[in-house]
Amino acid sequence: MSVLFQTGKLHLPIRHFRNKFIKFQSLKCSSDAAKKFVVFDEVNALRRAQAQRSLVVQVSSESSFKELYGYCSKYATISDIHHYKNTSGEHFMLIEFENEENLTNILQQCSSHQKDLDVMPIQSPFLWFRAVVGSKESANSSKELAIKDGNCCVDEDLLLEELAKCETVSDQIMLLYQRTMLNDIGIRLRFMVARQMEMIFQSLYSNIVVQPFGSSVNGFGKMGCDLDLVLTNVLTKEMTSASRRLVYQDKKYEGRRTPWQRHLELIAHLLQLRAPGASRVQAILNARVPIVKYSHDLTDLDCDLCYNNTSGVYMSELLWLYGSVDARVRPLTFAVRRWARAVGITQPHPGRWVTNFPLTLMVLFFLQQTRSGGAILPSFKYLVNKSGREDIRIAEENLNCTFLRDLNKLPASAFGQNTDKLETLLFQFFEFYSQFDFQERAISINEGTSIRKPNASPLYIVNPLEQAMNVSRNVSYEECERLKLEIRNAAWHLETSLDNKKGDDWGLLGLIEKKTARGLKQLLRLGNLQRLVSVKDLFKDDENEPSTEGIKSKLQKFGKNKSTEKTDSDEKSEKVKFKNSQIAKEVFRIRRDKIL
Ligand code: CTP
Ligand code: MG
Repeated sequence: MSVLFQTGKLHLPIRHFRNKFIKFQSLKCSSDAAKKFVVFDEVNALRRAQAQRSLVVQVSSESSFKELYGYCSKYATISDIHHYKNTSGEHFMLIEFENEENLTNILQQCSSHQKDLDVMPIQSPFLWFRAVVGSKESANSSKELAIKDGNCCVDEDLLLEELAKCETVSDQIMLLYQRTMLNDIGIRLRFMVARQMEMIFQSLYSNIVVQPFGSSVNGFGKMGCDLDLVLTNVLTKEMTSASRRLVYQDKKYEGRRTPWQRHLELIAHLLQLRAPGASRVQAILNARVPIVKYSHDLTDLDCDLCYNNTSGVYMSELLWLYGSVDARVRPLTFAVRRWARAVGITQPHPGRWVTNFPLTLMVLFFLQQTRSGGAILPSFKYLVNKSGREDIRIAEENLNCTFLRDLNKLPASAFGQNTDKLETLLFQFFEFYSQFDFQERAISINEGTSIRKPNASPLYIVNPLEQAMNVSRNVSYEECERLKLEIRNAAWHLETSLDNKKGDDWGLLGLIEKKTARGLKQLLRLGNLQRLVSVKDLFKDDENEPSTEGIKSKLQKFGKNKSTEKTDSDEKSEKVKFKNSQIAKEVFRIRRDKIL
């Protein structure tokens, strides 16, 4: 058990836990004296327990807080209430009760179903608060909302303004990390969605556990990142003990598909039909790891559910561990991921390009290299060598996922030996990969040094838990070339802007959003309409290479037309052809990224 939990109570309030954890993180920067690392399993157990005593209640607005608090606190003790809105503008309160018994009480005494013949009732942790006519109970207590509008992502324009005002590139990197990282309510909601799945499917599948993994829990998640879920059967030794003589009858599946393809197909149907909030359900069963994709409208989450992918969970644990070793790892990774997204190296959907996961491995690998003072991160081989009996984990298909779990046991000499600033590290990251021999060498965090490529894949990044696999085998030659080109561009940009500060695109700004794109986006916002217009509405066929001024005048014209509600179909259908100009590239990028 980690030091933190030896001194604290099991029902430690999360704020307390977060503060301690943040303290640990920052202390790691300055001294090694305070070793208060919380192991991944404990963090997740805490989050699961929190979800088991929480409910999400839809309300009419945030001002329903007092009434909801007054009503619920008559029956149960409330720890905290967090408010958030989804993109449809609906309001929700996430209520955390003091214990699970409280939650059972309130559900038994206060919950009801709708009397509607078209609806088959179901129980899940997502409810709504019915309005009443007449007297309403309201709380007299001074209790306040723990957070208001907690799920909203940072305003991009504001973020860019703040970044422009930073003193150093290191400050910019840190600010980007702090403003965009997944927050407490973001994590809570992810565990609520997992809890909902468990509750709905528990009657059909006994002893199932639904766990978030990937960026929702590995410490590299940003607000709005997708939710990866894994469903597993957890049968303890006692449950399968031969001394127990009454054994449940089971149903064996016999058919063409593998049993779990069939079960996932069923789960997809059930999600569509029975899970409140689940929509756009799609079963992708022929992939290497079959998944069910769906959107959860009550929480605004895009979910990918798979079965028994415990190696994915152990991989998340490994990333969590590396991110916790040194306080610079996560901010640096955020900067790299954000740059990759901005230059179009990564995309929101999968394809023949690199994704965030291999990109993160590239950052870790870079931090394993010895530079002035030493390396920042140890190799994975080192973590395996330091593991003990308590660290043994075997995933599906007998995959050995054993490595040191508790960083309190990591010798201080094994990490954080280099003390370079974040800005230096970011520049060195691009410089390192500008010179990397992608043609002949593979990236291996297992060794901490590059190895000869086992095959001709354009980009080869060894899967640390399954070393015969390349996590970037999907990347095409063209995309790899583009990655190399953008790395060189970024190195060049940083080299010039580290010396020569404070132009419009200085430091991180030039990497994550060029001024041309910023200006264009601002121009495309029409007054107070709070919506963006489509680029195709703005240009004419007969114009090539328009200037920003040209765009401005068209916008004004467009705005005028909109406000007077003129519908000039000829004008609206007109399009412009761009020919290789910077502006055309930016417009294309904005349009492709669906910003408009
Ligand atoms: N994973 C893996 N092996 C792969 C790809 C993914 O083990 N070849 C695991 C990793 O733990 C990864 C998780 O699956 O974190 C989810 O993958 P993905 O959603 O692609 O990456 P995330 O880390 O969640 O990043 P993002 O924010 O882009 O979703
Ligand atoms: Mg993910």
